[in-house]
Order: sequence, then structure tokens, then C-alpha cells
Amino acid sequence: MKLSTLEEEIAGYVENVKKAAKFIEQKVKQPPKVSVILGSGLGDISQSLEEAYVIPYDEVPGFPTSTAPGHKGELLFGEISGQPTMLMSGRSHYYEGYSMRTVTFPVRVMQELGVETMIITNASGGLDPSFDVGHPMVIRDQINFMGDSPLIGPNVDDWGPRFPDMSEPYDRDLIDTALEAAKELGIGVYEGVYVAVSGPNFETPAELRMLRRFGAEAVGMSTVPEVIVANHAGMRVLGISAITDRAVPEDLKPLTAEEVLQVAKQTGSKISSIILRVIKRLSED
Ligand code: HPA
Repeated sequence: MKLSTLEEEIAGYVENVKKAAKFIEQKVKQPPKVSVILGSGLGDISQSLEEAYVIPYDEVPGFPTSTAPGHKGELLFGEISGQPTMLMSGRSHYYEGYSMRTVTFPVRVMQELGVETMIITNASGGLDPSFDVGHPMVIRDQINFMGDSPLIGPNVDDWGPRFPDMSEPYDRDLIDTALEAAKELGIGVYEGVYVAVSGPNFETPAELRMLRRFGAEAVGMSTVPEVIVANHAGMRVLGISAITDRAVPEDLKPLTAEEVLQVAKQTGSKISSIILRVIKRLSED
């Protein structure tokens, strides 16, 4: 592909993002300051949104729809503890065949809407042998092992720098607030590094051994692209994984997506209560 073609493609993408943001702005009472991306089976928090206004993804021009199980495909707008918040119930994944840019389209829309803080959740396998399933893990750092980046191609200087800093991909203050919130709520949480693979297959024992040696505590198939774009956009990020299965080579059992979804649902209410408390703290700052 010629560079000029790539530049045309990006220009079209920017236009679509702006169109989607404008569409949303015209529908909602106030632009969101906080966004929450809900992963597989983690839709619980949507009940906590005051006076929620719902927009299905397929009504927003250019918005990618998810084909993954447990992903609803709705944007919800409203307030949590007085903070204008946008919830994304369901997300699209790289393994569905979307490009990295399409996967992160919603994050660019958030940027255009003026979102300052992005909270992102997912289901993941616990690589750390001491992890029990059904507990949240607050993400301290991440490894991009997807073999692609949403920032490849011409840089949109209005959105962020060509070579964005990633020295603190997840905001230290938000991590501390989330850990404190969990403690106050009596919820046992882990803290660790999340590594993203492309999927859609789960990992072989040899791959799990490798990922553990890389220094990761949890493995999943999402989040990393969105967090790269949010950092590029200058947002503060908090990430929480639901540990849905033991990704430990020594006692690996056959794993199904249904099992992951079921445990994610059980862990969802814990993650929701932590997030609600974090957003409350944001409103007290
Ligand atoms: N591996 C990759 N992705 C996942 C897993 C896993 O074990 N569990 C939930 N998502």
C-alpha cells in the first residue's frame, strides 16, 4: 500500500471517530468524564448508573459491534456519584478479525468526548500458581504480545505523540485507590502484570510457561490495545481483570469459553463494587 493511501485511510478514520462523537454529543445531556469498558460477563455495574441513557453500538456511525459471547453491545450514559460516566457494555476483539484501529475506535471516541479517566475490565487466566479463580486482579502493568499495535501507521498529531511514553500505563494513584477500596470492601484482590495474546485459541502449556517467565501474572485477549490508545490520548487508566481460570501448565485442564464467562459473571459484582468506590473517590478529589 502506498503511503498516500494509508494517509487517506487515517483521514477517513479520524472523520468517522468525529462523526460518532458528534452523534453521541447530540444525544447525551453532558459529555462523560469517566468511561468504563466492561469485559466478558462483567456487565453488573450498568445497574448502578443513574438515569441511564442507552445507545446500541449499531446506531453509532462507525462503531464496531462485538460477536463475542457475553458482550451486549450497548453504550450507557449517566452519572455515578455525580460523575458523568459512559459505560461500554461489550467490546470488540482483535481475534474477531477487526484491525487494531477498529478495536480501539471507541477509545478515540472517548477522547473526542473529553473522557479523562478510562476504567477497563476483562476476563483472564491466572498465570501465577498462587492465584485462586474468582478474584479480581488490579493491573499494575502490561505486556503487548499480540504482535500488532493500534498506533502503527501515520500518527494523528492532534490525538497524541508519535512515540508515546508508556512508563506508567496504569495510573499509580488509581491502582492505590482500587486496592484501598477492595480492602475496605473486604474483597481479596491480586495485583499484577497482564499479558495480551491475540487468541482466539487458549494457550498451550509451553506458551503459558513462556508467558509466566516473561513476568506476567495474568493472560487474556483484550485490553492492551485500548490501554495503548488511552495512554496515547493522555487519559488516566485503571484496569481490573477477573481471574477466571488457572493458566498454570502443571495442572492445566481443558478450558471452555462458557467456563470463563460463568466465573467472570461471579467475579463481576466484586469488580463493580471496587469500580463504584473508585469513581466515588474521583468525585471527592
Ligand atoms: N487465556 C487467555 N485468555 C483468557 C483466559 C486464558 O486462560 N481466560 C480468560 N481469558
